[in-house]
Amino acid sequence: MARHLDLATRDALVLRMRFYRDLGLTEFYRRAVDPAILEQFESASPRLEEQAAAPELQEVSLDNHAHEARQAASGNAATQSILSAEEAMSARKAQFSSPLIAPEVAPAGRAAALEIIREEIGECTRCALHKGRNKIVFGDGSPTARLMFVGEGPGADEDAQGIPFVGRAGQLLNNMIAAMGLRRDEVYIANVVKCRPPGNRTPEPEEGATCSPFLFRQIDVVRPQVLVALGATAATYLLGSRQPLAGLRGRVHAFRGTQLIVTYHPAYLLRDPRQKKEAWADLQIAMKELGLKPPGKG
Ligand code: URA
Repeated sequence: MARHLDLATRDALVLRMRFYRDLGLTEFYRRAVDPAILEQFESASPRLEEQAAAPELQEVSLDNHAHEARQAASGNAATQSILSAEEAMSARKAQFSSPLIAPEVAPAGRAAALEIIREEIGECTRCALHKGRNKIVFGDGSPTARLMFVGEGPGADEDAQGIPFVGRAGQLLNNMIAAMGLRRDEVYIANVVKCRPPGNRTPEPEEGATCSPFLFRQIDVVRPQVLVALGATAATYLLGSRQPLAGLRGRVHAFRGTQLIVTYHPAYLLRDPRQKKEAWADLQIAMKELGLKPPGKG
Protein backbone atom coordinates (compact mmCIF):
# COMPACT_ATOMS: atom_id res chain seq x y z
CA MET A 1 0.00 0.00 0.00
CA ALA A 2 2.60 2.55 1.03
CA ARG A 3 5.22 1.51 -1.56
CA HIS A 4 4.26 4.21 -4.08
CA LEU A 5 3.87 7.09 -1.65
CA ASP A 6 5.43 10.34 -2.73
CA LEU A 7 8.37 11.59 -0.72
CA ALA A 8 6.41 14.15 1.32
CA THR A 9 3.72 11.67 2.35
CA ARG A 10 6.36 9.09 3.16
CA ASP A 11 8.29 11.54 5.36
CA ALA A 12 5.10 12.43 7.20
CA LEU A 13 4.29 8.74 7.64
CA VAL A 14 7.76 8.02 8.99
CA LEU A 15 7.46 10.93 11.44
CA ARG A 16 4.18 9.57 12.73
CA MET A 17 5.59 6.02 12.95
CA ARG A 18 8.53 7.31 15.01
CA PHE A 19 6.20 9.16 17.30
CA TYR A 20 4.13 6.05 18.00
CA ARG A 21 7.16 3.77 18.11
CA ASP A 22 8.87 5.96 20.71
CA LEU A 23 5.76 5.68 22.85
CA GLY A 24 5.86 1.90 22.50
CA LEU A 25 2.71 1.87 20.35
CA THR A 26 4.16 -0.19 17.54
CA GLU A 27 1.11 -2.30 16.70
CA PHE A 28 -0.63 0.62 14.98
CA TYR A 29 1.85 0.97 12.19
CA ARG A 30 2.97 -2.68 12.05
CA ARG A 31 -0.50 -3.66 10.87
CA ALA A 32 -1.00 -0.72 8.55
CA VAL A 33 2.27 -0.25 6.71
CA ASP A 34 3.84 -1.96 3.72
CA PRO A 35 6.41 -4.52 5.00
CA ALA A 36 9.18 -3.07 2.82
CA ILE A 37 8.75 0.39 4.36
CA LEU A 38 8.43 -1.13 7.81
CA GLU A 39 11.70 -3.01 7.47
CA GLN A 40 13.50 0.07 6.18
CA PHE A 41 12.00 2.19 8.95
CA GLU A 42 12.88 -0.21 11.75
CA SER A 43 16.47 -0.58 10.61
CA ALA A 44 17.06 3.14 9.95
CA SER A 45 15.17 5.19 12.57
CA PRO A 46 16.99 6.00 15.79
CA ARG A 47 14.92 5.43 18.90
CA LEU A 48 14.48 8.17 21.48
CA GLU A 49 17.08 6.67 23.78
CA GLU A 50 19.60 6.50 20.92
CA GLN A 51 18.87 10.10 20.01
CA ALA A 52 19.54 11.02 23.60
CA ALA A 53 23.03 9.60 23.24
CA ALA A 54 23.70 11.37 19.92
CA PRO A 55 25.87 14.44 20.48
CA GLU A 56 24.43 16.34 17.52
CA LEU A 57 20.96 16.35 19.06
CA GLN A 58 21.24 19.20 21.45
CA GLU A 59 19.33 18.86 24.68
CA VAL A 60 17.81 21.82 26.47
CA SER A 61 16.51 21.42 29.96
CA LEU A 62 13.09 23.03 29.75
CA ASP A 63 11.58 21.78 32.93
CA ASN A 64 12.38 19.86 36.06
CA HIS A 65 10.72 16.75 34.68
CA ALA A 66 13.06 16.35 31.74
CA HIS A 67 14.85 13.37 33.24
CA GLU A 68 11.65 11.58 34.25
CA ALA A 69 10.18 12.35 30.84
CA ARG A 70 13.09 10.73 29.04
CA GLN A 71 13.00 7.75 31.35
CA ALA A 72 9.31 7.26 30.74
CA ALA A 73 9.56 7.64 26.98
CA SER A 74 12.58 5.39 26.52
CA GLY A 75 11.39 2.86 29.12
CA ASN A 76 8.16 2.38 27.25
CA ALA A 77 9.92 2.04 23.94
CA ALA A 78 12.33 -0.57 25.28
CA THR A 79 10.02 -2.86 27.16
CA GLN A 80 6.48 -2.83 25.83
CA SER A 81 4.68 -3.04 22.56
CA ILE A 82 1.12 -2.25 23.72
CA LEU A 83 0.27 0.10 26.57
CA SER A 84 -2.87 0.53 28.59
CA ALA A 85 -4.81 3.72 27.91
CA GLU A 86 -3.44 5.32 31.12
CA GLU A 87 0.12 4.32 30.28
CA ALA A 88 -0.26 5.62 26.76
CA MET A 89 -1.57 8.94 28.03
CA SER A 90 1.24 9.34 30.53
CA ALA A 91 3.84 8.33 27.94
CA ARG A 92 2.29 10.83 25.57
CA LYS A 93 2.60 13.53 28.22
CA ALA A 94 6.22 12.54 28.76
CA GLN A 95 6.84 12.73 25.03
CA PHE A 96 5.31 16.20 24.89
CA SER A 97 7.45 17.55 27.70
CA SER A 98 10.57 15.84 26.39
CA PRO A 99 13.45 18.19 25.69
CA LEU A 100 14.58 15.94 22.83
CA ILE A 101 14.38 17.39 19.37
CA ALA A 102 12.21 15.33 17.02
CA PRO A 103 13.98 13.71 14.06
CA GLU A 104 14.44 16.03 11.09
CA VAL A 105 11.76 15.97 8.40
CA ALA A 106 13.01 16.47 4.83
CA PRO A 107 11.96 19.89 3.47
CA ALA A 108 9.50 18.30 1.02
CA GLY A 109 7.67 16.61 3.90
CA ARG A 110 7.36 19.60 6.23
CA ALA A 111 3.96 20.85 5.07
CA ALA A 112 2.50 17.35 5.54
CA ALA A 113 4.20 16.98 8.94
CA LEU A 114 2.68 20.29 10.08
CA GLU A 115 -0.68 19.05 8.83
CA ILE A 116 -0.32 15.99 11.05
CA ILE A 117 0.29 18.19 14.10
CA ARG A 118 -2.75 20.28 13.15
CA GLU A 119 -4.83 17.11 12.87
CA GLU A 120 -3.67 15.95 16.28
CA ILE A 121 -4.76 19.24 17.79
CA GLY A 122 -8.17 18.64 16.25
CA GLU A 123 -11.08 20.58 17.73
CA CYS A 124 -9.02 20.93 20.91
CA THR A 125 -10.60 21.05 24.37
CA ARG A 126 -7.38 20.34 26.31
CA CYS A 127 -7.53 23.64 28.24
CA ALA A 128 -10.15 26.20 29.20
CA LEU A 129 -9.26 28.57 26.34
CA HIS A 130 -11.34 26.49 23.93
CA LYS A 131 -14.52 27.78 25.58
CA GLY A 132 -14.13 31.31 24.25
CA ARG A 133 -12.45 30.73 20.90
CA ASN A 134 -13.87 31.01 17.43
CA LYS A 135 -10.94 29.59 15.47
CA ILE A 136 -7.78 27.72 16.43
CA VAL A 137 -4.80 29.74 15.21
CA PHE A 138 -2.26 27.10 14.27
CA GLY A 139 0.46 28.91 12.33
CA ASP A 140 1.11 30.67 9.05
CA GLY A 141 3.85 30.86 6.47
CA SER A 142 6.48 28.70 4.88
CA PRO A 143 7.00 25.20 6.35
CA THR A 144 10.65 25.48 5.26
CA ALA A 145 11.24 29.00 6.59
CA ARG A 146 14.72 29.95 7.77
CA LEU A 147 13.17 32.50 10.12
CA MET A 148 10.28 31.87 12.52
CA PHE A 149 8.47 34.27 14.85
CA VAL A 150 6.67 33.19 18.01
CA GLY A 151 4.08 35.42 19.67
CA GLU A 152 1.95 34.99 22.76
CA GLY A 153 -1.55 34.09 21.61
CA PRO A 154 -4.26 35.15 19.17
CA GLY A 155 -6.15 38.40 19.62
CA ALA A 156 -9.64 39.20 18.34
CA ASP A 157 -8.67 39.51 14.65
CA GLU A 158 -6.64 36.32 14.71
CA ASP A 159 -9.45 34.46 16.51
CA ALA A 160 -11.88 35.58 13.82
CA GLN A 161 -9.63 34.65 10.87
CA GLY A 162 -7.66 31.67 12.23
CA ILE A 163 -4.37 33.28 11.15
CA PRO A 164 -1.68 34.65 13.50
CA PHE A 165 -0.71 38.32 13.54
CA VAL A 166 -3.34 39.79 11.22
CA GLY A 167 -4.46 42.70 13.45
CA ARG A 168 -2.60 45.94 14.22
CA ALA A 169 0.31 44.14 15.87
CA GLY A 170 0.41 41.91 12.80
CA GLN A 171 0.71 44.89 10.51
CA LEU A 172 3.69 46.09 12.49
CA LEU A 173 5.19 42.59 12.37
CA ASN A 174 4.69 42.60 8.58
CA ASN A 175 6.61 45.88 8.43
CA MET A 176 9.38 44.43 10.58
CA ILE A 177 9.62 41.41 8.26
CA ALA A 178 9.74 43.69 5.20
CA ALA A 179 12.44 45.82 6.84
CA MET A 180 14.50 42.64 7.13
CA GLY A 181 14.21 42.22 3.37
CA LEU A 182 11.80 39.27 3.56
CA ARG A 183 8.22 38.59 2.55
CA ARG A 184 5.73 37.36 5.12
CA ASP A 185 5.20 34.15 3.14
CA GLU A 186 8.92 33.39 3.46
CA VAL A 187 8.80 33.18 7.27
CA TYR A 188 6.75 31.02 9.65
CA ILE A 189 4.65 32.52 12.44
CA ALA A 190 3.03 30.81 15.42
CA ASN A 191 2.05 31.50 19.03
CA VAL A 192 2.55 29.93 22.46
CA VAL A 193 -1.21 29.29 22.72
CA LYS A 194 -3.45 28.60 19.75
CA CYS A 195 -6.72 29.92 21.19
CA ARG A 196 -7.49 33.49 22.18
CA PRO A 197 -7.21 34.21 25.92
CA PRO A 198 -10.29 36.14 27.10
CA GLY A 199 -9.73 39.90 26.90
CA ASN A 200 -6.24 39.22 25.46
CA ARG A 201 -4.89 38.38 28.91
CA THR A 202 -1.57 36.56 29.28
CA PRO A 203 -2.08 32.78 29.04
CA GLU A 204 -2.28 31.01 32.41
CA PRO A 205 0.65 28.66 33.11
CA GLU A 206 -1.58 25.63 32.63
CA GLU A 207 -2.78 26.91 29.27
CA GLY A 208 0.75 27.68 28.10
CA ALA A 209 2.07 24.34 29.34
CA THR A 210 -0.76 22.43 27.65
CA CYS A 211 -0.42 24.14 24.29
CA SER A 212 3.31 24.90 23.94
CA PRO A 213 4.35 21.28 23.21
CA PHE A 214 2.53 21.64 19.89
CA LEU A 215 4.57 24.77 19.22
CA PHE A 216 7.77 22.87 20.01
CA ARG A 217 6.77 20.23 17.50
CA GLN A 218 6.10 22.91 14.87
CA ILE A 219 9.56 24.32 15.54
CA ASP A 220 11.11 20.85 15.22
CA VAL A 221 9.39 20.35 11.85
CA VAL A 222 10.15 23.80 10.36
CA ARG A 223 13.69 23.80 11.80
CA PRO A 224 14.21 27.53 11.29
CA GLN A 225 17.78 28.69 11.47
CA VAL A 226 16.63 31.66 13.53
CA LEU A 227 13.68 31.89 15.91
CA VAL A 228 12.49 35.27 17.19
CA ALA A 229 10.55 35.28 20.47
CA LEU A 230 8.18 38.25 20.46
CA GLY A 231 7.76 39.43 24.03
CA ALA A 232 8.13 37.95 27.49
CA THR A 233 5.54 35.17 27.19
CA ALA A 234 7.17 33.65 24.11
CA ALA A 235 10.64 34.04 25.67
CA THR A 236 9.50 32.40 28.92
CA TYR A 237 7.97 29.33 27.28
CA LEU A 238 10.74 28.88 24.74
CA LEU A 239 13.67 29.37 27.06
CA GLY A 240 12.03 27.99 30.20
CA SER A 241 13.28 31.08 32.00
CA ARG A 242 11.36 33.78 33.76
CA GLN A 243 14.07 36.40 33.40
CA PRO A 244 12.90 39.90 32.46
CA LEU A 245 13.11 40.68 28.76
CA ALA A 246 16.00 43.08 29.32
CA GLY A 247 18.21 40.20 30.46
CA LEU A 248 17.36 38.05 27.43
CA ARG A 249 17.53 40.59 24.59
CA GLY A 250 20.64 41.55 22.65
CA ARG A 251 22.17 38.08 22.34
CA VAL A 252 21.74 34.73 20.67
CA HIS A 253 20.41 31.78 22.70
CA ALA A 254 20.78 28.17 21.56
CA PHE A 255 17.35 26.53 21.51
CA ARG A 256 16.22 23.22 19.95
CA GLY A 257 18.87 23.45 17.25
CA THR A 258 17.99 27.05 16.35
CA GLN A 259 19.46 30.46 17.16
CA LEU A 260 16.87 32.17 19.35
CA ILE A 261 16.63 35.94 19.59
CA VAL A 262 14.34 37.73 22.01
CA THR A 263 12.73 41.07 21.21
CA TYR A 264 9.73 43.20 22.14
CA HIS A 265 6.22 42.16 21.20
CA PRO A 266 4.83 44.33 18.35
CA ALA A 267 1.78 45.19 20.52
CA TYR A 268 4.18 46.68 23.08
CA LEU A 269 5.95 48.61 20.31
CA LEU A 270 2.60 50.07 19.27
CA ARG A 271 2.14 51.31 22.83
CA ASP A 272 5.72 52.58 23.19
CA PRO A 273 7.16 53.31 19.70
CA ARG A 274 10.38 54.65 21.25
CA GLN A 275 11.44 51.02 21.74
CA LYS A 276 11.32 50.32 17.99
CA LYS A 277 14.98 51.24 17.72
CA GLU A 278 15.86 48.56 20.27
CA ALA A 279 13.69 46.02 18.46
CA TRP A 280 15.42 46.86 15.19
CA ALA A 281 18.79 46.21 16.86
CA ASP A 282 17.47 42.75 17.89
CA LEU A 283 16.26 42.04 14.36
CA GLN A 284 19.66 42.99 13.03
CA ILE A 285 21.16 40.24 15.17
CA ALA A 286 18.71 37.85 13.51
CA MET A 287 19.64 39.19 10.08
CA LYS A 288 23.32 38.72 10.79
CA GLU A 289 22.69 35.09 11.72
CA LEU A 290 20.76 34.65 8.46
CA GLY A 291 23.32 36.50 6.36
CA LEU A 292 20.73 39.14 5.36
CA LYS A 293 21.34 42.79 4.61
CA PRO A 294 18.61 45.45 4.98
CA PRO A 295 16.88 46.17 1.64
CA GLY A 296 18.81 48.72 -0.41
CA LYS A 297 22.14 47.91 1.26
CA GLY A 298 23.48 45.70 -1.50
N1 URA B 1 -0.41 38.85 19.38
C1 URA B 1 0.16 37.65 19.45
O1 URA B 1 0.94 37.36 20.33
N2 URA B 1 -0.15 36.77 18.50
C2 URA B 1 -0.97 37.02 17.51
O2 URA B 1 -1.19 36.14 16.68
C3 URA B 1 -1.54 38.30 17.45
C4 URA B 1 -1.26 39.21 18.40
